Amino acid sequence: MTELERAVQAALATVQDPEIRRPITDLGMVPSITEDQSGERPGHITVSILLTIVGCPLSTTIERDVTNAVSAVPGVTGVDVEVGVMSPEQRAELISSLKRRTIPFADPQSLTRVIGVASGKGGVGKSTVTVNLATALAAQGLKVGVVDADVYGFSVPALMGLGQAKPTRVGELIMPPVAFGVKVISIGMFLDEARPIMWRGPMLHRALEQFLTDVHFGDLDFLLLDLPPGTGDIAISASQLLPGSELLVVTTPQSAAADVAQRAGEVTSQTGQKVIGVVENMSWMELPDGSRVSPFGEGGGQKVADALNVELLGSIPLESALRAGGDEGTPVVIGDPGSPAAQALMAISQKIAVAPRGLSGRRLGVQPL
Ligand SMILES: Nc1ncnc2c1ncn2[C@@H]1O[C@H](COP(=O)(O)OP(=O)(O)O)[C@@H](O)[C@H]1O
Ligand SMILES: [Mg+2]
Repeated sequence: MTELERAVQAALATVQDPEIRRPITDLGMVPSITEDQSGERPGHITVSILLTIVGCPLSTTIERDVTNAVSAVPGVTGVDVEVGVMSPEQRAELISSLKRRTIPFADPQSLTRVIGVASGKGGVGKSTVTVNLATALAAQGLKVGVVDADVYGFSVPALMGLGQAKPTRVGELIMPPVAFGVKVISIGMFLDEARPIMWRGPMLHRALEQFLTDVHFGDLDFLLLDLPPGTGDIAISASQLLPGSELLVVTTPQSAAADVAQRAGEVTSQTGQKVIGVVENMSWMELPDGSRVSPFGEGGGQKVADALNVELLGSIPLESALRAGGDEGTPVVIGDPGSPAAQALMAISQKIAVAPRGLSGRRLGVQPL
C-alpha cells in the first residue's frame, strides 16, 4: 500500500454502514483502494465498495460518506467510487463474523451495563420509566439499547413511536429499529396482529435468548430490559442469560405494591444480581394551586429501598404530560423536558450513568504488572 492509500484506508474506517453501524472497513465492504499510478492523475483515488445486498436502499448514503471521507484526506485530488455487491459467500462471511453464537452481553469482558427494570406488579409505570431512562441516557451521548422483555404486555414500541417499525434483517441478523437514539427490540415487532401470546416458560426463555443473541446491538454502554412484572420465568431467564446484569426496582408509594417490589428484589439477591436502586413512581400529584397530594400514599419507595439496602434514586410525580408522552410515542424527557416528571427522570438517569458498575464476580481485562 502507498502512503496515500493507507491514509485513505484510515479515513474510511470512520465511515459506518448505516444499518450495521460498524466501520465499513471492518465489514469487508472495501475490497480495494488504489492510487493512480499512471502519473496522469496524481493523487487520484479509486475505491471499490461492496454493498451487502442488491439495490441496497442506503447505497447513496454510503457512496456519499465514502466520497466525503476520501476527499478530505490531504493529498487526494479526486475520487472514483466503484459500487459492487457482495457475493453470497462474502455475505455469509460477513454475517458469521457479526454473529456470535453466544450472548455478547454475557461475556465477562463486556463493558455494557445491563439493567433489568423490574416491579412486583403491572401498571406501576415500569415501561414508562424504562423508555424515559433509555432516552435520557442516549441524550447524554451514551449508546443505549432496550429489550422489551415483557412478552405478554409489550408496550415499548408504542411508547417510543415505533408502533409500526419492523426490524431489518441482514441474513440471520436482526437490526433493531432506532428511536430517539435508542436501539429497540420487542416481541411486538415480530407479530402481525395484536393477539395475546400464550407462551410457556421454555418458549419465553428461548425468545429472550434469541433477542440477546441474534439482534445486532453493536457496542452499547447500556442495555435496559423491560421485564414483565413479578418474579416469573422471564426474570429468572434474564438473570441466567445475563449473570452480570443489575436490577432497578420500580414501585408506587402504595405499601401493597411496595411489598411485591421488595419480593422481586429479594429473589434477585438470591440469583446473585445486584440491585442498583429503587425508583418510586406516581409519588405525588401537583394541584393547580401548587399544593401536592399523594393519591397512592407515601413512603413505599423508601421502604423498599431500605429493605433492599439500596438508594431511592428518585421519585416521579403523577403527571398528565408523562402519560400523554407515552400515548403519543414521544418520551416526556424529549417531549416536555421542563415538566417535573421529566426532570425527575433525567436526574435518575444521571445517577445511573455515573454509578459504578457492579464489578463483583467480574474478571477485569487487565493483569497486574
Ligand atoms: N408518573 C406517571 N404519571 C401519569 N401517568 C403515568 C405515570 N407513570 C405511568 N403512567 C401511565 O400509567 C400506565 C401504566 O404505565 P406502564 O409504564 O405501562 O406500566 P407497567 O409497564 O408497569 O405496566 C400508562 O398508561 C402510563 O402512561
Ligand atoms: Mg409495561
